[in-house]
This record gives sequence, structure tokens and C-alpha cells, in this order.
Amino acid sequence: MIRYGVIGSGMMGLEHINNLNAIAGAEVVAISDPEVTSRKYGKYAAGICDSMVFESHTDLLAAGICDAVVLASPNHTHADIMEDILAAGVHVLVEKPLGTSVAECRRILNAAEGHRGVVWMGLEYRYKPPI
Ligand SMILES: NC(=O)c1ccc[n+]([C@@H]2O[C@H](COP(=O)([O-])OP(=O)(O)OC[C@H]3O[C@@H](n4cnc5c(N)ncnc54)[C@H](O)[C@@H]3O)[C@@H](O)[C@H]2O)c1
Repeated sequence: MIRYGVIGSGMMGLEHINNLNAIAGAEVVAISDPEVTSRKYGKYAAGICDSMVFESHTDLLAAGICDAVVLASPNHTHADIMEDILAAGVHVLVEKPLGTSVAECRRILNAAEGHRGVVWMGLEYRYKPPI
């Protein structure tokens, strides 16, 4: 069983939680979000107890309970949070875009240098032409 944390349980975070719930061998064990309403929906979607719901991603990472995390917070938060995730040494799927500037993306790539896990910048939906 791979234990996932979802950082940012807004629209896309909930989508990821629901998708992970449908995958055998995946379990969402924790979420983090600074907004109380997002935490409420994330907790409900993941079916986890209060002690696994965090206001801060740093507390989620420090708990050491996740093998992998999905980062689905707003774009401008990705660079700082990715540095913390990579320092924690867990696998990560970060929602697109990786960062909000070339400089931010380079910062993240530098932080990922030597990381021993998966670092995946994910675009969940693929456009299918109507023909
Ligand atoms: N792959 C796709 O098709 C697709 C579609 C839409 C959005 N996105 C991307 O997904 C990400 C999230 O977008 P959304 O539409 O779900 O936004 P949203 O506003 O619905 O959700 C973002 C959530 O992140 C929370 N948040 C804010 N700061 C945070 C922090 N420091 N740590 C943790 N959580 C924090 C907010 O409280 C909110 O609940 C963005 O990067 C966006 O570009 C991807």
C-alpha cells in the first residue's frame, strides 16, 4: 500500500483524492490546507480522522506518514512547497504549472537534483480531439 498525502484540498486536490481512492494499492492517509472549508471537504473525501488533517504542509511532512504526496495548491506556492517536499525525500506529483516563472522552475529542478524518488509534474487531463 502506498500512503499518499494531498497538499491543497481544493478543486484539484479533491479530484486527486477521489482518483487515488479508486486505485488499488493507494491510500490517502493525510491532507493539508490552510483553509478550514477545504480541510473539511478533504477530510470527508479521504475518509481520515482529524489527527491526519493538517493546516500546514510542513506539519504533514514532519509527521513522516506519507510515501508520496500530491501538490495541488495555488501556482504561486509550488516553488516553496516543492523545496520542502523534496527535502523530506518523498515521491511527488505536482500539479501543473511547476512554477510561475523560469527562475522558480529552475529552483525546483535544482532542489530535485539527486532526489531518490519520483518527481512528476502532472497534467491530469488530456485533450481528446472530437474526431
Ligand atoms: N491538471 C489540470 O487539469 C488542472 C486544472 C485546474 C487546476 N490545476 C492546477 O491545480 C492546482 C490547484 O488548482 P485548483 O483549481 O484546485 O485551486 P483551488 O483554489 O480550488 O484549490 C487550491 C487549494 O490550495 C489551498 N492552499 C493555499 N495555500 C496552500 C498552502 N500553502 N498549502 C496547502 N494548500 C494551500 C487553498 O486553500 C485551496 O483549498 C493549481 O496549480 C492549478 O494550476 C490543474
